[in-house]
Amino acid sequence: MSESLEALEGLVSGLITRAYGESYSLFSNDELKGLYAYLRQLKTEDLLRPAKIGSGHEEQILKQVRNDQIYWLDQQSDQPFIRLFFDKMNKLSEYITKTCFLSLNHLEFHFAHYAPGHYYLRHLDSFRGGLSRKLSVILYLNPDWQKDDGGELKVYLKGREALINPCWGKLVIFKSDELEHEVLPTNIHRFSICGWLRYDEVGQIGAFPKAFF
Ligand code: OGA
Ligand code: MN
Repeated sequence: MSESLEALEGLVSGLITRAYGESYSLFSNDELKGLYAYLRQLKTEDLLRPAKIGSGHEEQILKQVRNDQIYWLDQQSDQPFIRLFFDKMNKLSEYITKTCFLSLNHLEFHFAHYAPGHYYLRHLDSFRGGLSRKLSVILYLNPDWQKDDGGELKVYLKGREALINPCWGKLVIFKSDELEHEVLPTNIHRFSICGWLRYDEVGQIGAFPKAFF
């Protein structure tokens, strides 16, 4: 079995058996380095912007809730590593549509940067007016993450909590309308790509305003 099929199976089995899936093997080290280099370049060029919460005309910047900075990614980007990233997310989305009882037809992703001291309080990713978000996916890009570095993803499972380390190359997936989670304060500059596998009614794709949460 190919390594990537094995990674997809592992992600889905985690999703089903314990509410979140984790994999280190969806991206090669060179691919991760390419994504990371592009993110660092955007940051150097000061192109990341404060993340918002809510959607449509209700969106607002609420620094007491989250204070990361983001940059929305374009599937048609001329950056080869971004196109490769979307290719893999499309494959993941197709695999889930085929193997789970879930229809997915649209992707949205952004880079995220949490500076030291930054966090995102407990929340659900899916919300009123934005129920198109079915699965949340995060790829961590933190070289040499150590325990003291903080910034773990805390997930609230039934009856217990778990901490997920934002280690280099780890990809996490969970249901956007079910799993409450938060980003604990980080002690380092914390980098990731975060996004959603969505289902949008046909007429809505593209016309749908970007939802921030
Ligand atoms: C989010 C989020 C988690 C993480 O952006 O909605 O919950 O670990 N991110 O970055
Ligand atoms: Mn979230």
